[in-house]
Amino acid sequence: MAGIVIVGAQWGDEGKGKVVDLLAERADAVVRFQGGNNAGHTIIRDGETFKFHLIPSGILYPGKKCVIGNGVVIDPKVLTDEIDGLRARGIDTGGLRISANAHLIMPYHLLLDHAGEARLGKLQIGTTRRGIGPCYADKAARLGIRVQDLLDEKILKKKITAALDPKRLSLRPFQKDPSLDLHAMTEEYLTYGHRIEQYIADTSTLVWELLDERRNVIFEGAQGAMLDIDHGTYPFVTSSNPVSGAACVGSGVGPKDIDEIWGIAKAYVTRVGAGPFPTELDDDIGTQIRQRGGEFGTTTGRARRTGWLDLVALRYAARINTLTALAITKLDVLSGFDRLHVCTRYRGEEDAVFEQFPYHQSVLHHARADYEELPGWTEDIGEARTESDLPDAAREYLEFVSDFVGVPVALVGVGPARDQVIWTRAGADSVAAPAAAS
Ligand code: IMP
Repeated sequence: MAGIVIVGAQWGDEGKGKVVDLLAERADAVVRFQGGNNAGHTIIRDGETFKFHLIPSGILYPGKKCVIGNGVVIDPKVLTDEIDGLRARGIDTGGLRISANAHLIMPYHLLLDHAGEARLGKLQIGTTRRGIGPCYADKAARLGIRVQDLLDEKILKKKITAALDPKRLSLRPFQKDPSLDLHAMTEEYLTYGHRIEQYIADTSTLVWELLDERRNVIFEGAQGAMLDIDHGTYPFVTSSNPVSGAACVGSGVGPKDIDEIWGIAKAYVTRVGAGPFPTELDDDIGTQIRQRGGEFGTTTGRARRTGWLDLVALRYAARINTLTALAITKLDVLSGFDRLHVCTRYRGEEDAVFEQFPYHQSVLHHARADYEELPGWTEDIGEARTESDLPDAAREYLEFVSDFVGVPVALVGVGPARDQVIWTRAGADSVAAPAAAS
């Protein structure tokens, strides 16, 4: 199987967790490479529900290495709670490895995230308020605190002092917040250090060794291409790179170590937070999709914005990620609609036509979707396990998507349960395919 990158091809929440969980069964390691606890997914295993924000869900399989790479930003409180929660339920966390170079979310990052959004008022991004942006900002400003700093009291204190200093002004309203006390903060973070010390490792070498032995490594992306800080709908984006190239940077391997790149896309689109969304549905159909798809955030509980599938954006995501396969999730949510719409180009001001995803923010903000209409289907497809079990219209829908985007569909999700998937013929050729599908 070797190196497989799994990324979101829309605005996050595409169902990556389920695909990673499926593929992880045959993997030796699962590696997170960007983002932090702004991400979240739920895994149901033997009737038990597990919610993950930082630790790769591969931890549920005994013996797998689950790596939190250098590109991830870690809130150590969330991490230690997650470890405790798993251990309390009898899950062995011995396979967890945390990069010594990953950056830490500090109490002031959370305060700055809140303050930044409050200051923006109506223009706010709608962040998850987990401190993600301020933490990456400190990383770039070379004021970040890293996992390795937790192991040395003197260094930790010095670095916290240096990082806090330039923030005094913005944090003035929080001056009396006890979490900002230098000594208390240092003590708290040293305690986290003791608690996670056993998991801290040189994860770049670890992943390289596995790949060198042609073992199977899954690189698990968080969020999605359209939330990428460079290639997404800036400034309505997250502060990291959820695209496939970041799998290398965020885990310390080179591009040649990657064999396949899977993009995960829902059969429709959702978005959380503010920002342009050309196919957004503010009507009854949008509400129906939200209800049927259970489109409420795992991390924040927020209702997600919903819309028809945007193929202009998906084709763009395929290009910037060099996708080798698509997994289309939640196809079952579209059952029962007479006609389906897919966006094949945008219209701008004065009816200008955009076949490609526009790079200019103002163009994108005014973009309206032009749709192709496709026939719907009424059958329940939850029991379909092969392409031939699907109604003709559902197969046509998938074919249209794959032809337009120029990437084969390898896997289709037809319901929330683990076995509610279809491996397509194209999927069977993937190095990730289970033996039965090949
Ligand atoms: P941040 O990542 O908390 O800074 O939020 C920036 C933007 O990314 C906001 O619009 C969030 O709603 C969005 N976002 C962050 N993480 C996720 C995710 O896992 N799924 C969907 N949207 C996300």
